[in-house]
Amino acid sequence: IKEHRIQGPLTGKKVVVTAGPTREYIDPVRFISNPSSGKMGIAMADAARALGADVTLLHGPITEKIPDRIQTKSFISADDLFELMKDHQDADIVIKSAAVSDFKPVTRSNQKEKKDRAKLSVELERNPDILSWLGEHKKKGQVLIGFAMETENLMENARAKLEKKNLDWICANSLSEKGSGFASDTNTIHLIGHERQLEFTGSKKEIASQILQEIFGS
Ligand code: CTP
Ligand code: CA
Repeated sequence: IKEHRIQGPLTGKKVVVTAGPTREYIDPVRFISNPSSGKMGIAMADAARALGADVTLLHGPITEKIPDRIQTKSFISADDLFELMKDHQDADIVIKSAAVSDFKPVTRSNQKEKKDRAKLSVELERNPDILSWLGEHKKKGQVLIGFAMETENLMENARAKLEKKNLDWICANSLSEKGSGFASDTNTIHLIGHERQLEFTGSKKEIASQILQEIFGS
C-alpha cells in the first residue's frame, strides 16, 4: 500500500541514509566489523520520512527492526556500500551514519583458515572513503551530513572531518560521553555546521528528529 504523502519541510526531497556496520571477510567464516547497531541511522531515516522525504535506507548487517514504512537496500562490505551509494548519488540529502570499516583484508581465502600454525597475520588495506568521495562529487544544493565517532579530541577531530570531506554538517559522537555509544538507545550528538553548533542528548529517536528539525525545519 502506497503511503499517503506526508507534507513537511522535506516533501519531494530524496534522502539516502546509511546505517549499521560493514563486514570485511577474511575467509568464509570470519570477518572484521564493529558493534554498530544501526539504531541511529534508522532513527535518522524515520525522522526524515516524518518530515515528508522520500527515504532510502542503505544498511549493513543488523538485527535491529527497521519499520516497514522505510525503503531499504542492504550491503555487507564497504565496497558494496560504495557501489550502492554511487547508484544514489543524485539524492538531495545524504546522511552517513554507517560505521564503515577503514580497512579490509588484502586477500580473502576461499577456504576456512585452519589453526595449524602458532600465528596468523592478516594484511589489511584501506577501504575507499565513501563520504570523502561524495564530498568531492557533491552536486549543487546537495546536503551532506556525516557522522564522526571519536574517543579523544571530539570537537577538533569532528571539525577537521567536516572541512576535509566537504560536508555541510557533522554529527559528532564520543564513545566516552554519558549515555552514548554503539548499541545504546540514547546518545549525545554535537551537531557541527559551518555557522552554528548545537548539542542534543536523549533517545536516538528524539535526537534524530531534533537534528533534522534544526537543519531543515522551517
Ligand atoms: N566513512 C565513509 N567511508 C569510510 C570511512 C568512513 O564514508 N571508509 C564515513 C562514515 O560513515 C562517517 C564519517 O565518514 O559518516 C566519519 O567516519 P569516522 O570513522 O568517524 O572517520 P574517518 O574519516 O574514517 O577517520 P578515522 O576513523 O581515522 O577517525
Ligand atoms: Ca573510520
